[in-house]
Amino acid sequence: MSQRLPLPLSTSMFGSLLDDLPADIFDPTFPGACERLDHYVGVLAREVARELSLPSGELVDIDALIEARGWTLSSRPTLHWLLGTLELYGFAQRHGHAWLIGELDGHDPSSALKVVAVEADPSVAPAYEVLALAARAVPGVLAGRIRGEEALFGPQTMGLWFSYFSNDNPLYAPSNRIAAAAAARAAGPAPRVLEVGGGGGSAAQEIGRRLVAVAKTPWLYHFTELQPAFLRRGARLAQAVLPPTTAFKAFRYDINEPPWTQEVEARQYDLVVAVNTVHLARHLPATLAMLRSLLAEGGVLVLGELIRPAGEGTVHLELPFSLLSSYRETAGEGRPAGFLTEAMWRRALHEAGFQQVELLPAQLSRCVDAYPGFYCAALTAR
Ligand SMILES: C[S@@+](CC[C@H](N)C(=O)[O-])C[C@H]1O[C@@H](n2cnc3c(N)ncnc32)[C@H](O)[C@@H]1O
Repeated sequence: MSQRLPLPLSTSMFGSLLDDLPADIFDPTFPGACERLDHYVGVLAREVARELSLPSGELVDIDALIEARGWTLSSRPTLHWLLGTLELYGFAQRHGHAWLIGELDGHDPSSALKVVAVEADPSVAPAYEVLALAARAVPGVLAGRIRGEEALFGPQTMGLWFSYFSNDNPLYAPSNRIAAAAAARAAGPAPRVLEVGGGGGSAAQEIGRRLVAVAKTPWLYHFTELQPAFLRRGARLAQAVLPPTTAFKAFRYDINEPPWTQEVEARQYDLVVAVNTVHLARHLPATLAMLRSLLAEGGVLVLGELIRPAGEGTVHLELPFSLLSSYRETAGEGRPAGFLTEAMWRRALHEAGFQQVELLPAQLSRCVDAYPGFYCAALTAR
């Protein structure tokens, strides 16, 4: 069976493909941290497959498996992630809609790989903890004994999520930095900014800092989020990086609801920005059209997103999200649950009325050819 990951990762493997990114997107420790995470994800996938007693040596079809095991129908994205990841690491072969799983034994436990990775760089711990938490939740969520939201979010895990969606997490921060770089390029002077799905504020920190650094300090910054606990914390972090001259306001905003029922006005913003949020829209073109209606003349939409490799490729960090109903329920209308391919984004943005769409890095698909774990990008739409 062919194995595309793990590869030794080095920035030199991308040649000039990343020349359009600022030099400070990836920490020097990033390639090593990625390589260790790659090993961990491959082992974790095998452990989850064994825990679920997935049969090896026979063709596994997701729908047939769900029916045979009595799992919930919404298990598809998680099983798709699992089988696709086994395939990516050379432990399963795809045959049409089914997979042939090979030998899954013969590796160190994922817990040992986690110890090594965290010893090498303690700041990566949240990425490992989130994946381990998700892996433990899989059997219960598939069987319908517990909802993904209950398994992953609670008073005990709130701190973990804040440290996961953080610029101190070197495995997550590049998402924020690429989106912030795209925003800093696209915005005009003194932009009026709306951020949606601002979460714990890590993207806002990068966006605010970069806009200030390029002398495009926001005239106003509206930081919005759906969940009250995230909103409170995110607003604090976002406001801290902006000067007092920026008119700052934080409020609840739901990307699935019409803007005119919420605290925003049409054609009021020069920059609407979101990082890892808009793929959660229930009706993507409708949400994109609603965000477009908020842009003033000449305004721009910037979306930081994990871009699914072409076809039905898997994204490493998808396992936890695949367990959440808000993520699973986005499937349909010619799109998979959650993360979308570049072509799907372009189609949805055009359908929503955007004429011009750019990707940063522009050569993302060639980066993915060089290294199939590369999917961090920003879309800029006008
Ligand atoms: C991956 S997190 C974004 C992280 C954030 N950009 C940060 O820097 O911390 C996705 C965010 O989208 C929010 N969200 C989910 N559904 C939403 C909706 N319908 N409208 C607005 N935000 C939503 C979640 O509460 C979560 O905070």
